[in-house]
Amino acid sequence: MSNKRGTRRELNPLMKSKLKDFGAVRRLRTVEIQKIVEENPLVKTFSFYDELCVKAMPGQFVMVWIPGVDEVPMSLSAIEGDYCSFTVAKVGEATKTLHKMKKGDIIGIRGPFGKGFSYVKGEVLIVGGGTGLAPLAVLAENLSKLRANVTFLLGAKTRSELLFLNRINKVCANVIVATDDGSFGLKGLVTEHAEKTLAEERFDMVYTCGPEPMMVKMLSLAEKHNTPLQMSLERLMRCAVGLCGSCVIGIYRVCKDGPVFTDKQLKKVKDEFGRFRRDFNGRKIAV
Ligand SMILES: Cc1cc2nc3c(=O)[nH]c(=O)nc-3n(C[C@H](O)[C@H](O)[C@H](O)COP(=O)(O)OP(=O)(O)OC[C@H]3O[C@@H](n4cnc5c(N)ncnc54)[C@H](O)[C@@H]3O)c2cc1C
Ligand code: FES
Repeated sequence: MSNKRGTRRELNPLMKSKLKDFGAVRRLRTVEIQKIVEENPLVKTFSFYDELCVKAMPGQFVMVWIPGVDEVPMSLSAIEGDYCSFTVAKVGEATKTLHKMKKGDIIGIRGPFGKGFSYVKGEVLIVGGGTGLAPLAVLAENLSKLRANVTFLLGAKTRSELLFLNRINKVCANVIVATDDGSFGLKGLVTEHAEKTLAEERFDMVYTCGPEPMMVKMLSLAEKHNTPLQMSLERLMRCAVGLCGSCVIGIYRVCKDGPVFTDKQLKKVKDEFGRFRRDFNGRKIAV
């Protein structure tokens, strides 16, 4: 690299390696599916080797290319040793095709992209539901290595849809499970139990990910109890690098400024958060 006088300035090795990674994360890499775990009838976890994804922060996401079908965003749900995983709910064409794939099949990966969760080492409350538990399970594992005291509130519609309970039990001091139909743990919405927990204890941080109405409620609870919060948002993603505008929410592009946002950032997009998202034509549609 040259400076204004034209003399050559060498980049230090750390900067060189960061720039190399920056270019590489944007490139599509083909990877082989190493392992598939059926978590429940609608959700499967896919594992693969990738040297860039193992450096990801919990909350960062990858774009998964399913050859001949589509490319879709997925949070990393496990980062262990040399391999990473993402966990997929079967909802439409791309995810149904993924669910039919076998060990040894080839997919494409770009990323990891976006800003992940930042760590807080004190008393933390994690509240998640559905596949929103994917980034939160990795977060809980990493926070426990940092000796944070984690209370995890884990929600699902019914017992068979609960995800990652064993993993979460292994690393969290206090785990509370809530199912909408009461088939496992406490009965009711996970937010009802979060409300009680926040009224009884003080936390240094609340982390959340799940359906948007759940996260809207968690934002208002965190505000009420004057507790900082970080949450991971979902919006349509195409480029994943801040260029196309598909993922815009107010002043932010979720792929680049998020997907993890703080309570302070979310206050700036209150007109859209929990109310609107964009469709593939850029039109605002109700969440
Ligand atoms: C940052 C981020 C992380 C995500 N992590 C996970 C995860 O860990 N596990 C998981 O199961 N799902 C995750 N999703 C949602 C997942 O990307 C969609 O379910 C998937 O794209 C649906 O594709 P489809 O073709 O199967 O369904 P479709 O029938 O095409 O779509 C079903 C719904 O999925 C959403 N969707 C479709 N395409 C996209 C897209 N390109 N970007 C964002 N949303 C889309 C839309 O809300 C749509 O209405 C994440 C989304 C984002 C933005
Ligand atoms: S997905 Fe293109 S700007 Fe975010």
